[in-house]
Amino acid sequence: MVKDDFIIKTTNLTKSYGPHVALNKLNLSVPHGATGLLGPNGAGKSTFLKTILGLIQTTEGEGTVLGLDIRTQGDQIRSRIGYMPEYDSLNPDMEAIHQVRYSGELLGMNPTIALSRAHEALQYVGLGEQRYRTIGSYSTGMKQATKLACALIHDPELIIADEPSNGLDITARNYMIETLTNTVLTGNRSVLMASHLMDDVERVCDNFILLHKGKLAAQGRIEDLKAFDREIEIHVWGGASRLEEAMIAQGLGVRREGRVMRILHEQEDTTSIIMRCAADVGAQIRRMHEYEASLEDLFLSIMENLGYDVKSSEDLLASPVQARKVDAPEHMGGGSA
Ligand SMILES: Nc1ncnc2c1ncn2[C@@H]1O[C@H](COP(=O)(O)OP(=O)(O)OP(=O)(O)O)[C@@H](O)[C@H]1O
Ligand SMILES: [Mg+2]
Repeated sequence: MVKDDFIIKTTNLTKSYGPHVALNKLNLSVPHGATGLLGPNGAGKSTFLKTILGLIQTTEGEGTVLGLDIRTQGDQIRSRIGYMPEYDSLNPDMEAIHQVRYSGELLGMNPTIALSRAHEALQYVGLGEQRYRTIGSYSTGMKQATKLACALIHDPELIIADEPSNGLDITARNYMIETLTNTVLTGNRSVLMASHLMDDVERVCDNFILLHKGKLAAQGRIEDLKAFDREIEIHVWGGASRLEEAMIAQGLGVRREGRVMRILHEQEDTTSIIMRCAADVGAQIRRMHEYEASLEDLFLSIMENLGYDVKSSEDLLASPVQARKVDAPEHMGGGSA
């Protein structure tokens, strides 16, 4: 396959559960490499993944994965990709080695090859020593690693992982993130991972897709977005309000929290405009530094632009109950939950 081909493409992809529209006319193109699928609870991340794998039927629209039609070639798609589902897909009574071997056999691998690949895959995810233990005795981290081994058994070119670090402690989470990163960098494989942990996405991925309420909220390269959203942070002593007004009058984008302000760094001379405004209004700037937005900040600013009152992604994503509170304003068709 040509390197710059898109591995996943969808056109007007729509999925409704009865009257509920979970995916709303999605037009997406996912490039090679690692892509993070972000969005709050109920955004449609898992539905999107299941739809492109042909596991659930689309309501409208179409798409391809590795050039295969998601409506008619689901079997072929699933044999070429590795899928790590969100739910616990493992049999607690099975030894990990046999669970992984079995998932290879389900993909049509010959049992001997499946078994030898299962050893390799478990070794790769860090479970070499524990591979003969039953899954019921495993920690959450070990279960997630087993799910990843199942997804890697046939050495797929694309790994689709739904919340791979969900419920993991720091050590297990770091290990999972490193394994995924290695798979992309050393293994030269593509990864599409759904996550609500900005940090994980930032560590593994170059690209991101942000879904909200089944719609595409933003998409692009993480690097480009971060460069775009550069800000200068200043700490002001005396005259903060006057300075804020003066800068806004000069056309600068200002976000203020008390004496700390962040000014969008959109033009070369932003710093000198800030200094001139401060001199004009007699405000003292105590500290000034360039501030590069984290993915977390970007997520918040995108959500804010969409009209959502969000404190942090942790708040937003901590629990479905909380996510429902952060609903769309009424004028945008929300407020129903
Ligand atoms: N089988 C189903 N039947 C009815 N509604 C469903 C079904 N599966 C998902 N939904 C609804 O579709 C929407 C999208 O759900 P989905 O699980 O895709 O979101 P998500 O982004 O993966 O969320 P999370 O972060 O909680 O995993 C939600 O409103 C959900 O309640
Ligand atoms: Mg999900």
